[in-house]
Amino acid sequence: MIYFITGVTGTVVPVIVEELMRKDADPKFYFAIRKDNDGNGIEYRFESVVHSLDLDPAEKQKLSERSTLVEIDVEREKLGIAPEMYSDLVKNTEKILHGAADVRFDRPYEEIKISNVVFSHKIYDLFDEIKNHRKQNSQSDATLYYISTGYAYGIYDKIIPEDFPDFKPGTPDNTYAQTKAEAKIFILDKINRLNDRIVLFEPTIIGGAARTGKTKTYNLHYVVLMLGYLGKLPFFTAADNQQDIVPVDWVADVISDIMAKNEFHQGVLRLASGPDAATVGDVHDAGYEYFTANDPVPGHVIPKVRFVPRWFFYFMINVQKMFNQAMYKITGKKKYRKMVVGVRLLEGYFPYITRYKVFENSKSTQLLEKYTNYPKAPILQNIKDKNGNLVKKGYIDKILADTLETGWGGMVDYARVAAQVAGTRSNKVK
Ligand SMILES: NC(=O)c1ccc[n+]([C@@H]2O[C@H](COP(=O)([O-])OP(=O)(O)OC[C@H]3O[C@@H](n4cnc5c(N)ncnc54)[C@H](OP(=O)(O)O)[C@@H]3O)[C@@H](O)[C@H]2O)c1
Repeated sequence: MIYFITGVTGTVVPVIVEELMRKDADPKFYFAIRKDNDGNGIEYRFESVVHSLDLDPAEKQKLSERSTLVEIDVEREKLGIAPEMYSDLVKNTEKILHGAADVRFDRPYEEIKISNVVFSHKIYDLFDEIKNHRKQNSQSDATLYYISTGYAYGIYDKIIPEDFPDFKPGTPDNTYAQTKAEAKIFILDKINRLNDRIVLFEPTIIGGAARTGKTKTYNLHYVVLMLGYLGKLPFFTAADNQQDIVPVDWVADVISDIMAKNEFHQGVLRLASGPDAATVGDVHDAGYEYFTANDPVPGHVIPKVRFVPRWFFYFMINVQKMFNQAMYKITGKKKYRKMVVGVRLLEGYFPYITRYKVFENSKSTQLLEKYTNYPKAPILQNIKDKNGNLVKKGYIDKILADTLETGWGGMVDYARVAAQVAGTRSNKVK
């Protein structure tokens, strides 16, 4: 099968590529890549991705030999792809996986729209040309696979329905949700009006792998866990709220199965934990227990987080923000500015953690049962049996082990934590 793939330098798509290498006996890839902001070219970037993959050296070699790199610039006509390359893509591609998106929650609409909406329109234009070319030449139909997000539904005070072929989003939580919703409306319209072969995947929050605990990106719940570990989260809220986290390896298992088995070609597959989703309290309790028992910094005391009502929590956050803004104005000290930026980043995450977000997934589970070997997401949290005993069923300990081993991907400097512990001790002695 010949694939055109976007987003290979990201978190999720490389894991899907690993799986396609295992599941497809004769894969060939075109990868759409751009230079990065540090000036690294597309070859260098692709080599770094291949190097990082969980494949043996022979498979990595095979992947490199079977890959053609396509430099893109979303803002230019036809993605800025050189005309000869574009016509090669039209002639050869059988499946497109559009996994690229700007997943930041704090971008201005006009900026993020380019990566999330304009990009999707241009990918569809390419798909349309491929589709027509294949029809004219009596070749098998092409399929477009698009990675959307459950959070495109925005604010919902009820369970978020599986409403395909409809889509009625609520008010978006941020410009990411807004632009992903716009892209979904555009793509759905192609299915509903033109009967195109398009599959939309709708993962919820994608976290570390269930098999290894590893992740490439430590954001969202990882940041909250990190603040708890560092003692910078004296209060939190919404202990009963569900956080629908699914592991990246399951997402990749499902998407690669759907692509490689080649039997399901149209519709929406929500990739959610649904009723099995962990609560904020589950994640907190497991984190507190694990970090306290395995803390790499001797003498470091992890304070308990106190759960408070939402209104109080948001009030405290606003007080924090205003205090640091005022202190920055008065003193000009960078540490206050940093605090304000940190609080704003957290505010972007709050809707995903503290707001009611419960996802229906029964229809998708049935489809996954039929078309893949992976109908249900592995459970993150451990569960209690009917006698109230904790049963080690979840993979959360692997996630927590990875965060401690890597220091949240390098975000936590243990030497600094140790120095702070030593400083506190010597102050106490004085
Ligand atoms: N992560 C989650 O929790 C989650 C949950 C639900 C759905 N999703 C969806 O899953 C997909 C993959 O997410 P991810 O977490 O892997 O994201 P990620 O790690 O941030 O990677 C994003 C990828 O998209 C590329 N990209 C973004 N804008 C681009 C542009 N203008 N031109 C070219 N390439 C561009 C990036 O390329 P550069 O390296 O060049 O920036 C990178 O390869 C996205 O569609 C996202 O909406 C993610």
